[in-house]
Amino acid sequence: MSNRRIENHPILGELPPAAKVLIVVDGKPLSARAGDTVASALVAAGWTAFRRTEKRNEPRGVFCAIGKCTDCVMTVNGVPNVRTCITLVEDDMQVETQEGLGAWRIP
Ligand code: FES
Repeated sequence: MSNRRIENHPILGELPPAAKVLIVVDGKPLSARAGDTVASALVAAGWTAFRRTEKRNEPRGVFCAIGKCTDCVMTVNGVPNVRTCITLVEDDMQVETQEGLGAWRIP
């Protein structure tokens, strides 16, 4: 995946250093920054499809980015329908692309 993070913003300046957080997305490790939301980490890594719709199997990703539309929901640590745009990354967080309405996967 490519790095699409803005590292030198014309108004905000350079991106300050941050601790690394390692999450697992669909079984693959992904390095994020402390303070990232799951969605911002995924977008920075080039992800665009976070879930697929129940009826038409269409991809959905970040739309509102403020926790209102539910387009960005994924299964996080076994819990479906987590709004990733308002959920901060945590070490070893297990994130899965959600198919349809999702399913609970808590052991
Ligand atoms: S993008 Fe709308 S709730 Fe996350």
